[in-house]
Amino acid sequence: MTPQEKVAAIAGNKGAGSIAALTCYDYPMARLLDEAGIDVLLVGDSLGMVVLGFPDTTHVTLAHILHHLEAVARAKPKALVIADLPIRTYDTPEQALETARSLFAAGADAVKLEGGIRQAEKVRAITAAGIPVCGHLGMLPQRVLEEGGYHKKGKTPEQTREILAGAQALIDAGVFAIVLESVTPTAAAEITAAIPIPTIGIGCGESTCDGEIAVVTDLLGSFPWFVPPFAKPETDLASSTTEAAKKYIARIRSQGRQ
Ligand code: KIV
Repeated sequence: MTPQEKVAAIAGNKGAGSIAALTCYDYPMARLLDEAGIDVLLVGDSLGMVVLGFPDTTHVTLAHILHHLEAVARAKPKALVIADLPIRTYDTPEQALETARSLFAAGADAVKLEGGIRQAEKVRAITAAGIPVCGHLGMLPQRVLEEGGYHKKGKTPEQTREILAGAQALIDAGVFAIVLESVTPTAAAEITAAIPIPTIGIGCGESTCDGEIAVVTDLLGSFPWFVPPFAKPETDLASSTTEAAKKYIARIRSQGRQ
């Protein structure tokens, strides 16, 4: 399928509430998640924390995203592959387009950027070049330093109106979907009902958006040092990894030299 066909399939899910998306940062995980039937693989800048060990996403560079995106793309996923535009790589429409082009050339089917009205011109520049764009509203991790932490959004009617105005600006500029992060369930459901494109929620409660995205390490329980309150691990890879390593160490030590 072409990137445009994959995007059309996701866009066609508006209203069904069934888009299943996960972050993904490497080749084997891309193959496993794709074979499981995932709809969207996001090479997100969350890789800065859960793969590279930075305190937040503000340390992630384009080189980091390209390195992991290329690995994911080598799996030739049937899923839609979205790559994040890292912070400071889309400060102007020209720079946004150049960054998006390099991600598209490295195997992304679409790109994602954070923010609403102030990003509309950048989205226009990218979509005019034929590269699909996904928006990201609500809590914006790239602004964690300015905002002094990760704060829930959509707590007041004003905040909800502000997110909706951002969504409308992004839609007018051509985005095909919007990730809503840490928005109250009521506001997320209201925004989802109000806009004609899919919303993909994280930390927005259940059944409030057209789909959900999770950070893959939260799903797998493989990053135990920080687990967001909304995470729903389906397994505990951290414990099984430690257990396997302990068994290996014990086996080698018990063998000794003959
Ligand atoms: O980078 C990321 O993992 C994301 C998700 C939180 C949506 O942007």
